[in-house]
Amino acid sequence: MTQQPSAQLQGEIDRRRTFAIISHPDAGKTTITEKLLLYGGAIQEAGSVTAKQGRSHTQSDWMSIEQQRGISISSSALTFEYEGRHINLLDTPGHQDFSEDTYRTLTAADSALMVLDAARGVQAQTEKLFAVCRNRGIPILTFVNKMDRPALDPFELLNQVEESLGITAVPLTWPIGDGPDFKGVYDLQTKRVLAFERTSGGKHRAPVQTAGLDDPQLAELVGSDLAAALAEAVELIEGALPEFDLETFLRGEMTPVFFGSAMNNFGVEHFLSNFVELAPAPGPVETSAGLRQPTDEFAGFIFKLQANMSKAHRDRTAYMRVMSGEFDRGMDVIHGRTGRKLRLSQAHTLFAQDREKVEEAYPGDIVGLVNPGVFQIGDVVSLSGKVSLPSFPRFTPETFASVYLKDVGKRKAFMKGLTQLAEEGVVQVFYPTDGAREPFLGAVGPLQFEVFQARMEEEYKVEVEMSVTSYSLVRWLAGDEGSVARFARSMEDDQGRPVMLFRSKYDLDYTAEQHPEIEFLPLPKDL
Ligand code: G4P
Repeated sequence: MTQQPSAQLQGEIDRRRTFAIISHPDAGKTTITEKLLLYGGAIQEAGSVTAKQGRSHTQSDWMSIEQQRGISISSSALTFEYEGRHINLLDTPGHQDFSEDTYRTLTAADSALMVLDAARGVQAQTEKLFAVCRNRGIPILTFVNKMDRPALDPFELLNQVEESLGITAVPLTWPIGDGPDFKGVYDLQTKRVLAFERTSGGKHRAPVQTAGLDDPQLAELVGSDLAAALAEAVELIEGALPEFDLETFLRGEMTPVFFGSAMNNFGVEHFLSNFVELAPAPGPVETSAGLRQPTDEFAGFIFKLQANMSKAHRDRTAYMRVMSGEFDRGMDVIHGRTGRKLRLSQAHTLFAQDREKVEEAYPGDIVGLVNPGVFQIGDVVSLSGKVSLPSFPRFTPETFASVYLKDVGKRKAFMKGLTQLAEEGVVQVFYPTDGAREPFLGAVGPLQFEVFQARMEEEYKVEVEMSVTSYSLVRWLAGDEGSVARFARSMEDDQGRPVMLFRSKYDLDYTAEQHPEIEFLPLPKDL
């Protein structure tokens, strides 16, 4: 007999919002993250937005390579409270090269915020990440950032979203002017004007005044030209654009659009107060045994592994998203894949480098578990041990490098680093089956190789040399064991499955023609 969920559990589920930000690098994800934390009271004052040298870095950036480059490489989960809601923000790396980590992180989010640069609109990386959200059917909210800079026409921006992403874009606010003339936004729902005032350095909460559209003071506030243009735009929006519909949004087919300037603290809090109302609480999760409700007994899945998080704690962390029930520190669970009993006593949340012990967690929450090598991506821990996930997305590498160990005496550390960094999704590893040569690494972009090299050196004290090859395609192979084993140039992935690398589509087609005994498997469709 299923037990009635306790009112307390239901209440905790209802107040949770777990989301990720997707954007093209430089659109303002880091700045928005920091302002959200500021409004959530999680940090006192926003520091510098990016981890540029010589400046304070954001709460979510922690590795030295990130600080050197001013980009965010790995994901972490940030938690804050706002208006009684418990918000988990999954920090996804914005750089286009760090895709696998981002893809994995998105599997743990219930909604996503798409940040666009007002001058650039929809960019390549936004499209890629958007496609992942779309595949998962999660609702997406949009924030058009940098309105204090000369921007594209807002109708043109909405068009871009609709045309390139195939989703209906419905503005909930409308910008008044842009660039030096940016005067604020009109809230289309409450019919109020939120006036923008520039503050020095953008470090403090910007004062926000409100007045109605028919308020005679409006022309005084924003100037008569902009007031007239606004009235015209509002008429057009109300006459020509569909109304915002919560159900359509929750199905991932409509995105509410907000405008603002994160750097100037403008529009972010307004967005946040709408976000907590619109974004969904954790829902059911599809498992191999059907839909699992968040009110079912405890289960959680691992969506990310991270080695060497902090210099003080040289260990591996497995990130678990609670999918159902209440998690208590020290509880006994069963690790589904191995059937092993585990006591989850080493659980913590992560906020930059500070670890806080987690006593309890609810669906939607992210818990860091110290990983003594048991966890793999997609693993489930539960009370019964019988819960598992159907499949977990992997990215397809498009660039390949061979890697050489400089000091052969360091082979053991090299193999450890290779295994752990591959587990994290920094790179994928392919081992030549003749055993003589060094492994090949696969990545979506070559910057991942640099990260691999730097982390090998820094965290495993192993110097490696890398050389990018001319291979650009990988295919997994099937066929009878003998033929596959005899096949020249074949390799194995980290799970021992046979693969082969190709320089071009032509190379692949030609090889396939010459070897009808081998099946070259199509790539998994998710990514
Ligand atoms: P990302 O994480 O998406 O890569 O973007 P990030 O927040 O790092 O912002 C990228 C750049 O855009 C930063 O400038 C940031 O200050 C700027 N920016 C963010 N929001 C706004 C905004 O609302 N208006 C304007 N005008 N600029 C904005 P930077 O030059 O790279 O760094 P910094 O020297 O300003 O720190």
